[in-house]
Amino acid sequence: MAGTGEKMIDVQGSVYPLEKLINVARAAMNRAYAPYSNFPVGAALITKEGNVYNGCNVENVSYGLTCCAERVAIFKAVADGFKDFKALAVIANTEQPCSPCGACRQVMIEFAPHMEVYMVNKDGHYIKTTAGELLPAQFDKDLLQG
Ligand code: THU
Repeated sequence: MAGTGEKMIDVQGSVYPLEKLINVARAAMNRAYAPYSNFPVGAALITKEGNVYNGCNVENVSYGLTCCAERVAIFKAVADGFKDFKALAVIANTEQPCSPCGACRQVMIEFAPHMEVYMVNKDGHYIKTTAGELLPAQFDKDLLQG
């Protein structure tokens, strides 16, 4: 596990500090709506252009309607017209870095298999991976073409 240090994320014509992305994710985590699980999660997504979108988990009394933090951030970006993602940070108040669920992995890979994914713990320590590494042998769009 690494600390954020001075690590920078390369975006078009500029760089964005990883620590800042993690802070955006942490702030979103603190706005999570998670009264049923009491497990707040935050996400921050940065597009290739350098736009940042946050997300938090949003639960529902009908539990299955819950949407994870990662998907909230991704769907917000798509709704704004951005689909090329450079990196995503996901954080929870846990000792171990927060690892995205299977559904979120399939959504990430739809848009950005090469996207960097930073799985972050409560202290800001992280494990770096990619969307593709998180979901080998995914259900592939090409299969639909027959
Ligand atoms: N959750 C996320 O938001 N992201 C993840 O990667 C894992 C799980 C949420 C869903 C639910 O609101 C709570 O965490 C407990 O599962």
